[in-house]
Amino acid sequence: MEKYVSRESTLVVLGAVATHFIFNRFEPVYRPSVWVFLFFAPPVALAWGLHLPWTSVPLLVLKHLATLVFSVVAYRLSPFHPLAHIPGPLSLKVSNLVIAYHSVRGKRHDLMEKLHRRYGKIVRIGSDNVSWADAEAAKVCMGNKGLPRSVGYATAETSETPGSIMTAYAAFYPEPTKVHAERRARWAHAFTSKAIRECDTFLLPRVERLLKKVGEQQGSLDLGKWFGYFTFDFMGDLFFDGGFDMLNDQDEDGLWKIIEDFAPAIASLYYLPWLTPILLSMPGADDAPIQKFFRFAIKCVDGRLKKGNTVKDAFYYIAGEHVEDENKPKPSRAVIDSDVQTGIIGGSDTTASAMANTVFCLLMNPDKLKKLRQEIDATFYREGVDQNDSARLAELPYLNACINETLRIFPPVQTRISRGVPRGYGGIHVAGVYLPDNTSMDFPPRVIHRDPDYFSPNPDSWWPERWLADTSGTTEQPFIMNVDGFMPFSVGPANCVGRNLAMREMRLVISQLVYRYDVRAAEKDPQEFQRKWLAGLQDHQILLKGPLDVLLTPRSPNTN
Ligand code: HEM
Ligand SMILES: *[C@@H]1O[C@H](CO)[C@@H](O)[C@H](O)[C@H]1NC(C)=O
Ligand SMILES: *[C@@H]1O[C@H](CO)[C@@H](O)[C@H](O)[C@H]1NC(C)=O
Ligand SMILES: *[C@@H]1O[C@H](CO)[C@@H](O)[C@H](O)[C@H]1NC(C)=O
Ligand SMILES: *[C@@H]1O[C@H](CO)[C@@H](O)[C@H](O)[C@H]1NC(C)=O
Repeated sequence: MEKYVSRESTLVVLGAVATHFIFNRFEPVYRPSVWVFLFFAPPVALAWGLHLPWTSVPLLVLKHLATLVFSVVAYRLSPFHPLAHIPGPLSLKVSNLVIAYHSVRGKRHDLMEKLHRRYGKIVRIGSDNVSWADAEAAKVCMGNKGLPRSVGYATAETSETPGSIMTAYAAFYPEPTKVHAERRARWAHAFTSKAIRECDTFLLPRVERLLKKVGEQQGSLDLGKWFGYFTFDFMGDLFFDGGFDMLNDQDEDGLWKIIEDFAPAIASLYYLPWLTPILLSMPGADDAPIQKFFRFAIKCVDGRLKKGNTVKDAFYYIAGEHVEDENKPKPSRAVIDSDVQTGIIGGSDTTASAMANTVFCLLMNPDKLKKLRQEIDATFYREGVDQNDSARLAELPYLNACINETLRIFPPVQTRISRGVPRGYGGIHVAGVYLPDNTSMDFPPRVIHRDPDYFSPNPDSWWPERWLADTSGTTEQPFIMNVDGFMPFSVGPANCVGRNLAMREMRLVISQLVYRYDVRAAEKDPQEFQRKWLAGLQDHQILLKGPLDVLLTPRSPNTN
């Protein structure tokens, strides 16, 4: 009997270690059926092979799973793990669950800031993952000839649902660089300076409507929400030649709310990729609110395709309507749908949160708000000046310093611009660090932007003057301004394609708002205002925020 038990135990351990090896080697992450098989087959086979009673199977399964967990944990913590040389907390090395928890809470940005302060520029934040707050590494890994996004980016993709421009660049594909470059070429057409100028025909009326609408509200209003309506409507103009009208109906269909409500769930699925296929196959998955958004977007694409290319909006290029040669391949409908959905989400919340944070920072710094207003008044309050002139707005030094400084302190993508070392690549040596194949890297703009190595003094303070190298009022500390450490739109061939358009939107809205209205926070106590605002910021890959309640009074210019 004694001997019998030990043979059984030995076999359980061998089975679990073999299972672990299979997981590691073949990563059957996207096939839950394989998981189920590996969880149950070895103990069942053991019971059968050793002629044990079937009633012993549950216990064997438990032992198998316990040994499996032990084996996985021991390996991840062991000196044999390929990332053993990267420092990081035990709890994160062991499992994705801890970080998934922080992510659901929306406080991933706080966690990353703490970890980097404690461990330095590179921290191991998962079994095969690092967070790398190093400008040099970011430049090399994301620059030309850089690496694709990590495999985690392509979780929900099958042949029927090909990736968007975002996920098509994931190491998941055999040739991510080629797939992405082809997609990106179409997108780039939609954002040339000429195409952006053409956007003015629908952008300017939207800005006008936003500024009118906020002025009409009685009492205090949540300006962040209105920025959201505006950017969402504008995405409708950009992709569908109109279609959304939240500035008028104030999100009657609840679409904006759906995106915000689902951001936490979507962001945490990144950490638990095996959960996606399971959730999608559950009964009722089709009725999930996020599906409502997708169906809505598909309906808009239907409408736009039916209407035809009457305008040269972004859709015109992304759907390949500009390609005249009939023999040239056009994007499939599935590709168009996923690109458009990504564009709407990627282009609306980011820009809205950047504008809301700019207003927050201005309200916290009344002297700087005054300085900005003086610059804008002096520019606009002259006859013959076109307030919509994009070249002129791009040149206003203080306006642009305020926007840059906000993107530095509160980058809309806070903690994860993702890249991965593809399998078979041979590892990378960058900034004195070696990372093997299959490593996922996160570059956290928020942490990099607040590093005194790149921005000093007071890297944590909102101080627009640093962009103008205006060092008056600082102490004798050295002044450092290294724009390599500034990457709100990322860098390299997969950086934000909508960057110039986003800057155009922000300059127009902020300058007009400050020009036309006296803006005050509804909360009179600045400390309380700040506390509430910071507590409301949630990093879910997109940056969600609490209400930005303000009071607006129309002003006549030059009455400071
Ligand atoms: C302040 C506003 C915005 C910020 C901070 C921002 C930031 C970013 C970042 C960090 C990335 C990831 C790049 C990477 O992985 O290297 C990205 C990608 C992207 N953004 Fe933006 N974005 C903004 C506005 C917009 C707008 C208005 C659009 C237009 C619809 C847009 C469309 C995209 C697209 C299509 C990609 C994927 C690019 C690719 O894979 O080649 N973004 N953005
Ligand atoms: C690590 O990377 C994998 C693959 O890209 C991803 O699925 C996982 O969620 C990442 N984990 C963490 C902690 O970032
Ligand atoms: C700027 O654009 C808005 C909206 O189209 C328009 O009402 C306004 O007159 C324009 N301003 C100038 C100076 O052309
Ligand atoms: C804002 O940042 C961009 C990107 O680094 C830079 O090109 C631009 O000159 C900056 N603007 C100001 C006013 O410094
Ligand atoms: C990367 O993963 C693949 C399969 O998922 C595996 O065959 C390969 O050995 C891994 N490479 C390293 C360096 O761990």
